[in-house]
Amino acid sequence: MKNVPCTVIVGAFWGDEGKGKIISYLALKDKVDFCVRTGSVNAAHTVWMDGKKYALHMVPAAFLHEKCRLLIGAGANVHVARFLEEVELTKVKGRMGVDQQASIIEEKHSLQDKTSAHLKGLGTTGWGVGPALEERARRTAKLAKDIPELQPYLADVATEINDGIDAGKKVLLEGTQGFMLSLFYGTYPYVTGRDTGAAAICSEAGVGPTRVDDVLIVYKSFMTRVGTGPLPGEMTKEEAKERGWFETAAGTGRDRRSAPFDFELARKNAKINGATQAALTKLDCIFPRCQGARKFDELSADAKRFVEEVEEKTGIPVVLIGTGPEALDLIDRRK
Ligand code: IMP
Ligand code: MG
Repeated sequence: MKNVPCTVIVGAFWGDEGKGKIISYLALKDKVDFCVRTGSVNAAHTVWMDGKKYALHMVPAAFLHEKCRLLIGAGANVHVARFLEEVELTKVKGRMGVDQQASIIEEKHSLQDKTSAHLKGLGTTGWGVGPALEERARRTAKLAKDIPELQPYLADVATEINDGIDAGKKVLLEGTQGFMLSLFYGTYPYVTGRDTGAAAICSEAGVGPTRVDDVLIVYKSFMTRVGTGPLPGEMTKEEAKERGWFETAAGTGRDRRSAPFDFELARKNAKINGATQAALTKLDCIFPRCQGARKFDELSADAKRFVEEVEEKTGIPVVLIGTGPEALDLIDRRK
């Protein structure tokens, strides 16, 4: 993936695979020039640097690299207050752009989300993404260009990114959530309000399929999901705690349900997303001796075997392996 201009980052399962960590690492290591965030405020991307934790709902996770231009694509859905707060927190005002046609998610959408018995039954995050996207489809939604506070940030993201690709710049397209939450391919109706796959990420950012060089699918070493809906192989909370897999959601604080890695699902989702490479995060959660490893050779034999099994079953190379929470706790196997 090094020297490759345009890469899509897609979540493999139900979100929370650790895309924030992978993106922040790539931004720093490869000195990425552009990062485009897609999706909406329901997704939190966690970035750890020097003991400081950021849970980003709007600002792209590549912000750690200070020369990276940060963008929100036309297909995304912007929560204005949250966006302004995060811009302040991450100090990225001078390099942050929002596409003029990105739509706006408002307080009323959150209220509609939280008071709808149907949406509540799906276990939504309550941010209002479903109702906001309904309004967009009805063509009554506000757009970024209609919002006075967003005027300093307005951009034509698709043109900027495609010009960047022409100039050989390095671009990351930051997917949110996971493929099993896709409106089209996930566990409907227990899904989010949009397609979350690699093709949809390109569409939201404004990049055509022929301009993408790599699709990096992000797997976590075990699977989790928040909210309602099927989770194959689900274990009890007690068992998850015993194994050290128990997590709570970065965005909503809810308990995450968990299950062992599903190789068949991993294979299928790699194929449908056209994945060329994989990242495998949280290897240290299932093999504690791997904590903080930065070289493949430092891994225990059983951990190596697990990585190799992921490669065999999915047919794609695992190029990045997460071994701890910080952006740089990672094994980079790229040439
Ligand atoms: P909504 O996207 O808020 O409508 O929620 C629909 C489903 O997607 C629920 O099961 C949520 O828990 C789940 N979901 C939405 N965003 C995320 C995320 O960023 N991580 C994990 N699950 C999510
Ligand atoms: Mg998350």
